[in-house]
Amino acid sequence: MVDSRKTLNPAVSRRTVFRGLAGFLAGSPLLHSQQDPFRDHSRVPALGEMLDAFDFEPVAHAKIARQAYDYMSWGVDGEFTMRRNREAFDWVGLVPRRIAGVGPVQAASNFLGMNLPFPMLIAPTARHVMFHPDAEAATHAGATAASNTPFIVSNAATFPVEKIAAAATGPWWFQLYPQPGPDYNRQTLEKAQAAGCRAIVVTVDQQASVYERSTHDQNLATAASPVPAPTSVGPRRRANPYRVPDGRLWYEWTLLDELRRVAKVPLVVKGIVTGEDARLCLEHGVDAIYLSNHGGRSLDYNPSTLEVLPEIADAIQGRVPILFDSGIRRGSDILKALALGASAVGLGRVPLWGLAAYGGQGVQKVLEILQAELLQAMAAAGRPTLASIDRTLVRTEFL
Ligand code: FNR
Ligand code: LAC
Repeated sequence: MVDSRKTLNPAVSRRTVFRGLAGFLAGSPLLHSQQDPFRDHSRVPALGEMLDAFDFEPVAHAKIARQAYDYMSWGVDGEFTMRRNREAFDWVGLVPRRIAGVGPVQAASNFLGMNLPFPMLIAPTARHVMFHPDAEAATHAGATAASNTPFIVSNAATFPVEKIAAAATGPWWFQLYPQPGPDYNRQTLEKAQAAGCRAIVVTVDQQASVYERSTHDQNLATAASPVPAPTSVGPRRRANPYRVPDGRLWYEWTLLDELRRVAKVPLVVKGIVTGEDARLCLEHGVDAIYLSNHGGRSLDYNPSTLEVLPEIADAIQGRVPILFDSGIRRGSDILKALALGASAVGLGRVPLWGLAAYGGQGVQKVLEILQAELLQAMAAAGRPTLASIDRTLVRTEFL
């Protein structure tokens, strides 16, 4: 039997015990995980120090208001879908061909009758003024400087479309959040087309979701919130107890027919995540399917878009192109999406990181990084042209 009087060291003082405890806590991974990972930014790195898209996020975080960063990074509910959008890329392996012939690696294509120097566009995102004072004008200028990357201007943009269009010469599209009634959609689309938009994207996956990260944000009712802040003091009052904004959940498939009549440019439907809906879009004369789960901001527990891409591609059978987004961060992500059936991809948060970190130049730089990464990935995979990229390039291990 152990004699506790002999094993305990009577010389251990209270101070020594506290010091030991403090040391233990300081090294604890639990405490570490609660610290701000961006706290070590004692200087803003130069643009030339950015090596991949992820490098831009901490700089963006350091430069913009907390509420703006939270709004940008937010995903609905537990953010399962937002995480899954990224994880899904880990479940797709690349199987390279080794002897692929000589010739330049090139990724230009024709998309809906337009020249696309790289198979990527800037996805529509709201209110760029939260991220930079030059807002969408800077984004458009940066996109144009990066080999004329098309910029899809959000219906909820800061500036009027004419001002954004005048900021650069590159192509831009317009995204619509349809509203009920005969006039709004028609007038809005006519205005966008008169200003020169090359295609119209109608977003159908935000009929019922709400933009609030937490009760905390609600009570702050910040200027960064995309929902207008209430003028009254105190917690925000909602129009109804179920948080479904008025004017939502009214879409009918005939809406696409109405929009089709107004659209003189290609019509693209954004937010499709099933083969069945993709087929219905085709029946209603849509020119391209935009597979998206809104970057995990629409409905949590949606599958990742990469997982449903083969289903959509099988349903479409090449009759119209597929635009794909949600989770793209690297050139190899783009390569995987192309292999599984996408014709081009949309970039949501990535250009916002560039904009928030370095304005228009940041947008340009982050796009150029992805363009270079895509070409490098194509070369390493032995697929030097878009035509050579097909499903034999990937091995999927979706769960
Ligand atoms: C969006 N998204 C979006 N979509 C849309 O059709 N109209 C909009 O106004 C917005 N606004 C918006 C704001 C912010 C801050 C984010 C992050 C996203 C969705 C966007 O077009 C795209 O589908 C996702 O961002 C793609 O996911 P990743 O690339 O951000 O992971
Ligand atoms: C968003 C919108 C505006 O995701 O679609 O914030």
